[in-house]
Amino acid sequence: MALRLIQAGIGGMGRAWWHGAIKDHAGVELVAIVDIADAPLAECGDALGIPQNRRFHDLTEAVKAVDADAVLTVTPPPVHLKHAEIAFANGLHLLTEKPLGATLDEARQMVTLAKEANRQLVVSQNYRYNAPMATLRRLVADQPLGVLGHGHIDFYIPGDFRGTFRETMEFPLLVDMAIHHVDLIRAITGKNILKVTAQTFKPAWSWYQHHPGLKMLMELDDGVQFSYSGDWSARGRGTTWNGAWRLQCDSGSIEYTNDNKIQQTTSTFWSKDQTTTEFPHDAAPRNGQQAVLDGFIAAAATNTPAETSGADNLWSFGAVCAGVISAQQGRTVDVRELIGE
Ligand SMILES: NC(=O)c1ccc[n+]([C@@H]2O[C@H](COP(=O)([O-])OP(=O)(O)OC[C@H]3O[C@@H](n4cnc5c(N)ncnc54)[C@H](O)[C@@H]3O)[C@@H](O)[C@H]2O)c1
Repeated sequence: MALRLIQAGIGGMGRAWWHGAIKDHAGVELVAIVDIADAPLAECGDALGIPQNRRFHDLTEAVKAVDADAVLTVTPPPVHLKHAEIAFANGLHLLTEKPLGATLDEARQMVTLAKEANRQLVVSQNYRYNAPMATLRRLVADQPLGVLGHGHIDFYIPGDFRGTFRETMEFPLLVDMAIHHVDLIRAITGKNILKVTAQTFKPAWSWYQHHPGLKMLMELDDGVQFSYSGDWSARGRGTTWNGAWRLQCDSGSIEYTNDNKIQQTTSTFWSKDQTTTEFPHDAAPRNGQQAVLDGFIAAAATNTPAETSGADNLWSFGAVCAGVISAQQGRTVDVRELIGE
C-alpha cells in the first residue's frame, strides 16, 4: 500500500519535491498539500489534479481533514519543530528538509518527540545520494590509495536568495548549505566530526544581511582532519553544489573537481611520475531526493530508522551548531558536549 503523504511547503524546494520525486512515485499517494501562500497551492494542485478540499493553508487543518501516514515539510527551518509537533501528536511519520531545526535545541526536541511517539523522523540529506558523492564514498571505503588522512572542501557559488529566509538568517552558508557538506564528510569518511573551529564573515560585496563566508577546521574520529572554505556570495569561477573536494590518502589524492570529475593521482617524491586516472561516476538510478524518499518509505513501512534519521542527523547538525558557537565565541567547540554523546 502506498504511503499516504501530506506535503507542507509547496513553493521553492517544495516544488522540486512534488514535481521531481513524488509525482510519479508508485509508493506515495499525495493526499493533501499545505502552504501559507495561495500561488504554490494553485500551481501544484492544478498540475496534479488535487481537489480544492485537499489544499490547505495550515498543517493542523490538513491532518484533521484527511487520512494520512506521514508528513513532508519543506518549509523554512523555524517551522520544522511546529510541523514535527503536529505530525507526531497525530501518529504520523515526518520527513523534514534540512537543516533539522532552527536551533540544536529544537532539533533535539524533534528527535525526542519522534521517539516518544514511536514514529520515524528522517532528514533530507539528499546530497549523500548524488552520483559523484556516492562514488567518493565508495572510493574511500575501497581504499585504492590507502587510508584517508585529511581532506578539504571548497564551496563558491553566488546564491541569489533575495526574498527568501536566507537573505536575513544568521550564518546562511554554515547553517543552510554547509550542513550538506558536513553531512557528506560524515557519510564519505564513515567518521563523526568531534571538534569544530570556525570563523564566518561578510565580504564587502555581499548582498546577504549576515555572513555568507566561512573558514572552518574539523577534527574527526581517528584524528582525520578536514578544512572548509566557502563563500555563498562568490563571483568568478564557481564550484558545483557538492563543492570541490581533495581527499589526501597515504599513497595519493582523490579529487572531485569544479567540472564534476572524480580523479585519483599518484606520484613519487617531489611530485615526480605523476599519474592521474579519472573515475566515471557510479551509476545512480535515482536522484538524491528520490533516494531519500525511498529511505523514508522503507523506514515508515518497517518503523525502523533510516540512514538519515533525526537521531543520526544530530551529529551533522550538531557539528554545524558547533561551528556557529565557535564563530560567535572564538573557540574550538566539542560536538560531543553539545549533543550529549
Ligand atoms: N535538500 C536540499 O537540497 C534543499 C534545497 C533547497 C532548500 N532546502 C530546504 O528546504 C526548506 C525550504 O526552503 P525553500 O528554499 O523551499 O524556501 P522558500 O522560502 O523558497 O519556500 C518555503 C515554502 O514554504 C511555505 N511556508 C512557509 N511557512 C509555512 C507554514 N507554516 N506552513 C506551510 N507552508 C509554509 C512558503 O509559503 C513557501 O512556499 C528549508 O529548510 C531549506 O533549507 C533544501
